[in-house]
Amino acid sequence: MNAVNAVMQRRPYRPTGDLFDGADPGASEVLADGAWVLRGYAAAHAPVLLAEIAAIAAAAAPRHLIVPGGKRMSVAMTNCGALGWVSDTRGYRYEPCDPQSGKPWPAMPASLLSLAREAADAAGYAGFAPDASLCNFYQPGARMSLHRDHDEGDLAAPIVSISLGLPATFLWGGLARADRARRLRLVHGDVVVWGGASRLVHHGVAPLAEGEHPLSGRWRYNLTFRKAR
Ligand code: SIN
Ligand code: FE2
Repeated sequence: MNAVNAVMQRRPYRPTGDLFDGADPGASEVLADGAWVLRGYAAAHAPVLLAEIAAIAAAAAPRHLIVPGGKRMSVAMTNCGALGWVSDTRGYRYEPCDPQSGKPWPAMPASLLSLAREAADAAGYAGFAPDASLCNFYQPGARMSLHRDHDEGDLAAPIVSISLGLPATFLWGGLARADRARRLRLVHGDVVVWGGASRLVHHGVAPLAEGEHPLSGRWRYNLTFRKAR
């Protein structure tokens, strides 16, 4: 199936283990060849995930990075794991230490790692071993323009992306920057996994709408797991 023109299909997947308690395990969607939306997959884990996000933010404060062109990103970012994604006027790259503090990024919490692994497994990517998790903090108005995740050393590994808090409109484009992007609503607990033929698909997030979420207030959090090395 062509990743660019794939039609959204609904297909059940077989949940395993207790990760699915409280979620809606029937609702998964094939987004494209190698790409899945696992609806509500992380919802039952939200309290733990939110506590871990708060701890990561306390150790490595989210900041608005500057892109090579000089603009400041509207999304605030931090990282956990052996490597963290950073951007400045010199370019995009992974760094073992937080440039803001000079200290290693906070370790990837076991709860996050196991959830990311399970989600990858559920989408058909067994043995996912991420060494980087980019933590994105969106407030209303924040957006992420269409881009590809291509700074990783291991493009055979998928990307696992967990959404928490306020809903967002995810933009799912194609392998070419100019390909028309589909708009997909992602809500609290949804997990998107993309790899294989979809690994280098362009994606982004439309400006976050104003809202109030019972667990996160005026925030959307997104954790994106990668195998950077
Ligand atoms: C990203 O591409 O790093 C973030 C995607 C999202 O916030 O859903
Ligand atoms: Fe991305």
